[in-house]
Parts: sequence; C-alpha cells; structure tokens
Amino acid sequence: MILHADGREIEGRAGERLLDAGRRAGLPLEGTCGGDLACATCHVVIAPADMARLSDASEEEEDMLDLVPHAVATSRLSCQIRLDEGLAGLSFAVPDS
Ligand code: FES
Repeated sequence: MILHADGREIEGRAGERLLDAGRRAGLPLEGTCGGDLACATCHVVIAPADMARLSDASEEEEDMLDLVPHAVATSRLSCQIRLDEGLAGLSFAVPDS
C-alpha cells in the first residue's frame, strides 16, 4: 500500500509497523527501544483527517507521548501502529525533534 510521509510516497506492507515502513523508506525514525514504549524516538504526526482511521492509543502510548516535547493532538508512536489495507493512503510527518 502507498503511504504519504512528509509529502512523498512510501510503501507500507500489511502486518508491519508504521515504524518499519518509515525506516525502510529512509525516514529519520530511530525507534531506539525497538517498540517497547520506552523511547518515543518513533514519534510521528498523523494528518488530522486520518486520525479516525487508527485504533486509539493505549494508555502506555499516551503516557510516553506526554514526554515528547513537541507532541501535538495528532501525535502517535509509529511503533504502535500496525499497518493493514484499511490504512492505505495514510498521511503523516516526522517532526524535526
Ligand atoms: Fe521506542 Fe516506539 S520505538 S517507543
């Protein structure tokens, strides 16, 4: 499926995490903790229009997002987003910090 990241198209595969699709495309997503909800270096900002297509963030994800200095209302952790065909065309950005 095609995803839109920072204004360009990247490929996402059903079953993988948004973090993995972004890293494969060369986006600056560190994902230091490997998805254990311990780093927030996988922070992305989802396009507001696409937020309703995602499952709600868990309490643990929300707690970690609270520690992100420049988090916004549509911030998510890309390690917690599992791609499926229903997310084709998802738009997101990788913030500078
Ligand atoms: Fe560490 Fe997502 S990779 S919280």
